[in-house]
Amino acid sequence: MLDPDGRVAMVSGAARGIGRAVVLRLLDRGFAVSAGVRDLHDLPDSNQLFVHRYDAESPASADAWAVATAERFGRIDAVVAAAGINPVARLLDADDTALDALWTVNVKGPKHLVRAAWPHLVASGNGRVAILSSLSGKRVANENMGYAASKFAAVALTHAIRREGWDHGIRATAICPGFVDTDMTAHVTKHPRAQMSRPEDVAALIETMLSLPAHAVVAELLINCRLEPTL
Ligand code: NAI
Repeated sequence: MLDPDGRVAMVSGAARGIGRAVVLRLLDRGFAVSAGVRDLHDLPDSNQLFVHRYDAESPASADAWAVATAERFGRIDAVVAAAGINPVARLLDADDTALDALWTVNVKGPKHLVRAAWPHLVASGNGRVAILSSLSGKRVANENMGYAASKFAAVALTHAIRREGWDHGIRATAICPGFVDTDMTAHVTKHPRAQMSRPEDVAALIETMLSLPAHAVVAELLINCRLEPTL
């Protein structure tokens, strides 16, 4: 496994949920972490933690955050794209406002973030990328066609990163959880909250993905709290 000491990870969506759990896990394991947040947060004080404003709707914001991270720590070795949204966009909706927002935040957001960090990931020689997709990026199981489409696209984005980055030592994993107990699933009643995956468990798996050597690669990581055929 790669030694986390001296490695620098950017984590988006870091104020809460899975992103926040990833920040805490990586700090605990010895990474330096650059946390991208839109607004208020209660992340801990640590000289290994740098917090910067980041809006997934703005490519310029990704650029500014990557520049500031490189200035602060001198390098970027990993990107975890955890910022995401799930407004409902149904197949037969006439209005595509929600679908456009899903595409902007869940697909273009991670794309621009990885592009902004790319020269540093190449320079690292062991760049790692984890894109938060979903089991909704593997199958369509409810009315939210738009969310599933954005998460299928996030899987495709991850494969494109792996392909483009391979010769530079960059490896990328699509993280595909089912229900995780965060604010995003606050409205979910069809599965007991106590039986949802924990953000801390997803974070531990992501830390492992960032730490695997270049010759042990997980392209897609499926994590379920329920029994579903083949998932
Ligand atoms: P959450 O709703 O608790 O946190 C999402 C984070 O993304 C928040 O910090 C929010 O401020 C940030 N964010 C949203 N829009 C943003 C924007 N335009 N710019 C910057 N930051 C923005 O959600 P959770 O559960 O932590 O989700 C993290 C990722 O995991 C998302 O991509 C989500 O789709 C995915 N996921 C979540 C699952 C769940 O059951 N909670 C299951 C599968 C995937």
